[in-house]
Amino acid sequence: MLQHFDPNKDYGTPARVSENLVTLNIDGVEVTVPEGTSVLRAAAEANINIPKLCASDNLEAFGSCRICAVEIEGRRGTPASCTTPAENGMSVTTQNNKLAKLRRNIMELYISDHPLDCLTCPSNGNCELQDVAGAVGLREVRYGFEGNNHLDAKKDESNPYFTFDPSKCIVCSRCVRACEEVQGTFALTIDGRGFDSKVAAGQDDGFLASDCVSCGACVQACPTSTLMENSVIERGQPEHSVVTTCAYCGVGCAFKAEMKGNEVIRMVPFKDGEANRGHSCVKGRFAFGYATHDDRVTEPMIRDSIDQPWKKVSWEEAFSFAAGRIKDIQAKYGRESVGGITSSRCTNEETYLVQKLIRAAFGNNNTDTCARVCHSPTGYGLKTTLGESAGTQTFDSVMKADMVMVIGANPTAAHPVFGSRLKRRVREGCGLIIADPRTTELVKSPHIIADHHLKLRPGTNVAFINAMAHVVITEGLEDKEFIANRCDNTAYNKWREFISEERHAPEQTEDITGIPAAEIRSAARLFAAAPNAAIFYGLGVTEHSQGSSMVMGIANLALATGNIGREGVGVNPLRGQNNVQGSCDMGSFPHELPGYQHVADDAIRGRFEASWGVTLDNEPGLRIPNMFNSAIDGTFRGMYCQGEDIAQSDPNTNHVDQALRSLDCLIVQDIFLNETAKYAHVFLPGASFLEKDGTFTNAERRINRVRQVMPPLSGMADWEVTMALSNALGYEMNYSHPSEIMDEIATLAPTFKGVSYDRLEELGSIQWPCNDAAPEGTPTMHIENFPIGLGNFAITEYVATEERSTRKFPLLLTTGRILSQYNVGAQTRRTPNQAWHDEDVLDLHISDAEMRGISDGDWVGISSRAGDTVMRARITDKVQPGVVYTTFHHPGSGANVVTTDNSDWATNCPEYKVTAVQVVKVNSPSSWQQNYQNFDDQQQDFLKQGRESVSQ
Ligand code: SF4
Ligand code: SF4
Ligand code: SF4
Ligand code: FES
Repeated sequence: MLQHFDPNKDYGTPARVSENLVTLNIDGVEVTVPEGTSVLRAAAEANINIPKLCASDNLEAFGSCRICAVEIEGRRGTPASCTTPAENGMSVTTQNNKLAKLRRNIMELYISDHPLDCLTCPSNGNCELQDVAGAVGLREVRYGFEGNNHLDAKKDESNPYFTFDPSKCIVCSRCVRACEEVQGTFALTIDGRGFDSKVAAGQDDGFLASDCVSCGACVQACPTSTLMENSVIERGQPEHSVVTTCAYCGVGCAFKAEMKGNEVIRMVPFKDGEANRGHSCVKGRFAFGYATHDDRVTEPMIRDSIDQPWKKVSWEEAFSFAAGRIKDIQAKYGRESVGGITSSRCTNEETYLVQKLIRAAFGNNNTDTCARVCHSPTGYGLKTTLGESAGTQTFDSVMKADMVMVIGANPTAAHPVFGSRLKRRVREGCGLIIADPRTTELVKSPHIIADHHLKLRPGTNVAFINAMAHVVITEGLEDKEFIANRCDNTAYNKWREFISEERHAPEQTEDITGIPAAEIRSAARLFAAAPNAAIFYGLGVTEHSQGSSMVMGIANLALATGNIGREGVGVNPLRGQNNVQGSCDMGSFPHELPGYQHVADDAIRGRFEASWGVTLDNEPGLRIPNMFNSAIDGTFRGMYCQGEDIAQSDPNTNHVDQALRSLDCLIVQDIFLNETAKYAHVFLPGASFLEKDGTFTNAERRINRVRQVMPPLSGMADWEVTMALSNALGYEMNYSHPSEIMDEIATLAPTFKGVSYDRLEELGSIQWPCNDAAPEGTPTMHIENFPIGLGNFAITEYVATEERSTRKFPLLLTTGRILSQYNVGAQTRRTPNQAWHDEDVLDLHISDAEMRGISDGDWVGISSRAGDTVMRARITDKVQPGVVYTTFHHPGSGANVVTTDNSDWATNCPEYKVTAVQVVKVNSPSSWQQNYQNFDDQQQDFLKQGRESVSQ
């Protein structure tokens, strides 16, 4: 069992894992540590604290400052303890007069070129230089400031979140090493030599202009105030902290929210966070200011129609108005005429309550979630093949992979902390295959070159994965033992026959996929030959008309090569939103109760009926696209939407607009008047993650605690709002804390049976399944068998999407995300992250641009069979000819006006990744954009009137 270390202490060098232990004597104390541990760390583990400056326990030792010098019996001189490995029988002295003098001399030199403004320094009270000066007993500085020094060096304030003040730099290189080792960006260097050496970002052109991605690792590593958060400079050192979980992506990083009163001063990645291991990205680390942005709507509002201004009301009136409307609709149009959408941004407990309200209070199964539009094919595909709708590994597992294949994902932008971990593993020698139409950072970046970039055409994933599997099977590269012992042989033989057919050979599919046959063959051989090969995939796999087939194709390949059931392998969906795994687990889908239990199963439903005290519908309800269609045809008339912005995030905006306008009652619960709320009749103020108590479940199935950092600005937690709405509807809910909701979940969802808040406090986090068989959770799935017994190979016939390029729409549009903005941008657009991306642009290849007379920065019209929009063009070689790419972070850019409602055959997940479009140079916004602007102006005015109205 791994030793637990104090997450608030810096042990100087990284922990080592080894079966061989060594015992040494430090200052008379016997200390036993794993082989490879430094003397500095061994001492720290025994609470003997040797002063240090250039060392930090998330970085490999560097040995430049010499402050950590010690004496070792039988060795000459005073070796640096950070670079000296502990050995059996070693006898170490860490304190004596000679060492004290040596350390004081070193500190004197440092301080002689350091401003003596401690009292006014933002680091005062939290400065390692100050601490070490105190620890070594520095009392005087003999050298004075007369000679050359750096005291007037100019600050770099280009980054919106932190300042670089070189006058305080001790050139310890911790920042440079953090950028290299932890983040993997290599944006910093030490320029010059000796006295002239200094930290430089990029070509010394400042942080903002450099390759820096603002992850904050260097700021955290800096032992002085040279690199310092602006929030600390402006507001001073924090006073207390609360550990919670990031609310952006599915990595689920743990942070210490460092506070002054109720104000967050900074978010510091938590060293004990098992998903992030003390690292972060710009969003979680810095982009939290949206939570207290002026745009927050914190009072309930109602109105009769969307053509009217909002009216502020009391919570009671809002609940009674909403419940009255829902009841009236059901009385007139039937029980099935209403439904709701749960949020993958909200906690498990909140999501559970919303689906419970829909099933128990509305009395139907018309519940769905945004996973419909991102990872629903993952649920279907992995359940069919592996028996469980979730990824198989921990993020740590990638450090044991010998080959990683990334398909349709851009982790350094969308899952940045995992992206950094993957890059680290690749720098250690792990192979890398990228399958993506675009050239992402992982294809080539400092110290990273993928073995293969399989540049497939959008929409041809299944042809590609079948070709990979064809090579494995026909060249005899499969893992026969794994297949014989762990897989269903009938299904395997059927699949083997199918996949061996010549039509799946890379030579036959290269015209479809655009990937040269030799490349596929080589990639398949590399993948199959690796002792541990892992697959990570993203929305580039799922958001297709064959999303579910592709997920099954990926699982087939992992099964055929025996890459399931141990560390370093597996099938790993990279989840988009922070709690998309949790929202699926919590029964958000219309056909599944919490824990992926089918509503049609009488025994299962009976258990829920007994617990909830109602009769439940045994028919699956409407999915989101069906809700929209039914709204337009008039049979679906009321919706409760918590924490989702379907008006911006769902495809074919014109269709969504028509559906939302058709509703008689739209209840939106959110922190801002988002795009969807502009169509609402009831607005219930929501709480940001900083105001929540609960849990999120990340892409590793890891249940993390979300702890309240400040009280809800609206006065009510989101779960309390849902509970009150349910009570107003006449279905009583009565919880006094989210932990009680989790206790109920544990009684109803077998995979959550062992989960409770007490257990989470004890273990830090838990990866489900957590039950009697796995009381501490399940980091790696399917070790001995699958929930369905044997692994199931599925037939994955390639069927070309109907959305193909034509003479009218000759280009294929694919969409994605970038690092600095998040999803629909509602949060990040309200932060200084705007500095990196304040508009969505259309990336197109130079050949396509030249053909159309388009120059970089021109306005271009993008039209598809669904609609038209206008954006600025960016000419790039990151997309291949025939493919164009954009993001959807800004509502006014209308990326989803263009996407169609083509969808996955099994789950209706929209085909965001393939839209046939034409692109032409234009001079003015599209008519959709003009209408959007008018509607937005009108709704902002209605909001203003609502804010100014007197609460009744
Ligand atoms: S913020 Fe991150 S990327 Fe930027 S220089 Fe620092 S460590 Fe490197
Ligand atoms: S900026 Fe900070 S971490 Fe970097 S070299 Fe200077 S003192 Fe060290
Ligand atoms: S990687 Fe994801 S979870 Fe981690 S800090 Fe960034 S956005 Fe938050
Ligand atoms: S801490 Fe060991 S040499 Fe700097």
